[in-house]
Amino acid sequence: MTAIAHPNIALVKYWGKRDVARNLPAVPSLSMTLGGWRTRTTVTWGVQRDRFLLDGVVRDDPRVGRFLDHIDADRPPVEVVSDNDFPTGAGLASSASGFAALALAASHAAGRPRSPEATSVLARLGSGSACRSLLGGYVAWPLGTDPEGSDSHAIQIAPASHWDLRMVVAVVDAGPKATGSTEGMERSRRTSPLWSSWVADGPGEVAEASSAIEARDLERLGTVMERSTFRMHATMHTSTPPLLYWLSATVALLHEVFALRARGIGAWATMDAGPQVKVLCEAADAPRIESALAPHALETHVHGPGGPARLQR
Ligand code: DP6
Repeated sequence: MTAIAHPNIALVKYWGKRDVARNLPAVPSLSMTLGGWRTRTTVTWGVQRDRFLLDGVVRDDPRVGRFLDHIDADRPPVEVVSDNDFPTGAGLASSASGFAALALAASHAAGRPRSPEATSVLARLGSGSACRSLLGGYVAWPLGTDPEGSDSHAIQIAPASHWDLRMVVAVVDAGPKATGSTEGMERSRRTSPLWSSWVADGPGEVAEASSAIEARDLERLGTVMERSTFRMHATMHTSTPPLLYWLSATVALLHEVFALRARGIGAWATMDAGPQVKVLCEAADAPRIESALAPHALETHVHGPGGPARLQR
């Protein structure tokens, strides 16, 4: 069974867990699913022994076996063959599209298909942000109230067709990140003095971003996205030891985005747990924004909103 899922970029960030084992978030979040890039994953349920191939290389990632156990604790050995058409593990949301595609392909391969909500819950157990990649367009991930997490799954705010925005992605380093998100979030929760205000602000920021999307108001959406980004990175920077995902090119790109805005071009920046800068803008502005960013980046890409995860027959 084969499934495809797209990465998503958070417009309001998920950073922190209230339940680490279940990946229940400390803050709600909201994202745009990216068209263009994708993870494709094929699952064969019942083989000789567990095997996981990523981009053609056999990997020893204990998260995959543990994830499959959630589908069936008495499962047979399973083969997972996955490939990304974008850099893996560099803060470009490869774990999001990866676990979204795996949740969909594996639950069908096991003969246990689920509702979209339950598939999103399953993907969340692999990686929190993966729950958002099950759906297309503009997607929220609420906190939920069930201690088991059955209601902490993605909800579509608006389909891709609602608003044809662009995310210009400037890749400054394609290597894997120094500190993984799970470890980084726990460090911020335990040590950042900004933690309580970060958690307190989350619900209001998601509400503000949702209404900006509904109204197709890019200035409002860009402002809240940038604010969420800088507040998240402030909790990272004020952790002990500090989490600094930025490189000098990251800072150069941020100044470029601010300079574009000073010239009246609608461009707003976001970064995740990596050095890449992603810029939200109208489709018509994407070419000149890409040209302005290109001198500071290894490569640039432009993506619009994408569709939901789906089976490929
Ligand atoms: C910075 O979903 O990768 O990209 O749940 O521990 O697997 P785990 O973390 P992950 O965290 C992504 C965090 C982020 C912001 C976001 O995507 O909301």
